[in-house]
Amino acid sequence: MNRIYLDNAATTPIDRAVIDAMLPLMETNFGNPSSIHGHGREVRSAIERARKTIAGLLNTSPAEITFTSGGTEADNMAIVRSIEKFEITHAITSRLEHHAVLHTLEYLAGKGKIKLSFVALDEKGHIDLTHLEELLRDNPKTLVSLMHGNNEIGNLLNMDKVGQLCEDYGAIFHSDTVQTMGHYRHDLQQLKVDFLVGAAHKFHGPKGVGFLYINAKNKIQPLIHGGSQERNMRGGTENVYGVVGMAKALEIAYAGMDEHRKHVEGLKERMITKLRQNIEGIEFNGDSDNLEKSLYTVLNVSFPRSDEGDMFLFNLDINKISASGGSACTSGTDIGSHVLSALNVSPERPSVRFSFSKYNTTEEIDFVVEKLSELVTG
Ligand SMILES: Cc1ncc(COP(=O)(O)O)c(C=O)c1O
Repeated sequence: MNRIYLDNAATTPIDRAVIDAMLPLMETNFGNPSSIHGHGREVRSAIERARKTIAGLLNTSPAEITFTSGGTEADNMAIVRSIEKFEITHAITSRLEHHAVLHTLEYLAGKGKIKLSFVALDEKGHIDLTHLEELLRDNPKTLVSLMHGNNEIGNLLNMDKVGQLCEDYGAIFHSDTVQTMGHYRHDLQQLKVDFLVGAAHKFHGPKGVGFLYINAKNKIQPLIHGGSQERNMRGGTENVYGVVGMAKALEIAYAGMDEHRKHVEGLKERMITKLRQNIEGIEFNGDSDNLEKSLYTVLNVSFPRSDEGDMFLFNLDINKISASGGSACTSGTDIGSHVLSALNVSPERPSVRFSFSKYNTTEEIDFVVEKLSELVTG
């Protein structure tokens, strides 16, 4: 069997049709989209078509989509510039956020620009909405930054409830939707959200490109100053092939969403069942084994303590299985996961995040569970 890839929350393989959509912009249409001559104009129109496609899928207007270098930049832009624009003095987040959010907020708090509050979590890692409301009630001029789907344990946020609370208390709501974009439908006519984020490489698009949805009522400043690209919202020549590839990838993701979801959910369910049948003492971190309240693409498994524990990922790798101990930033190093420590998961039990895509098969899942059982029993 070929190497098995179960690290799709880190990044996904790019679709062939996405590469095909990008190639003409590398091979033929090489103009600078800011040039006013024909070479430039044809590339400009490719970018605007891509913006229209993405906006259409999210049920919003193209003017509300700004292209960025990925999820991290989009998160930074939303947080830094909304705090400045709305004279925000207080931000609420959770200890389970991606570092793109946590480190940005901690930096701003460290500089004395904001007070930072962490919302309480229940024992499964879900946001305590009562506590969130208390924090909102006590603090006017607040930014709430809570992710839709957690990249390590998969927990899903109730976006409707949080959006409603933010509206009730006049708070700005930013949601890091990097793990749900292209996997769940976001209808921006329904959602009460100020900023949403997408990163193409999480939905079978290219790396190094993403976007920020900025609700039209929020006229923030650019994060990157320079030329007048992106309607003055982001200086710098656009990543033209990235943008076009991202729109194609999102289009494909939406067209096949129900079918792919059914397939991937089936794989996750199969893995949960087989792990329970084959490995005594298996547990799942967060609410990862709850199919309704977690991402169908992520399963975070806690294995029984063993002497080989430290070598777990290494042994999986030797067996040609790519998975991860946490987010991509921590895998490959022995820095523990901030998400699992926030949930007080025992570091003595090896934890592995398996994350699936439409390209995985039931045969792969069966093979992986077989290898895992061998590794656990020695
Ligand atoms: C939840 C979440 N937010 C933000 C990011 C950062 O996205 P990017 O790699 O495009 O900068 C990631 C990627 O790992 C993620 O999973």
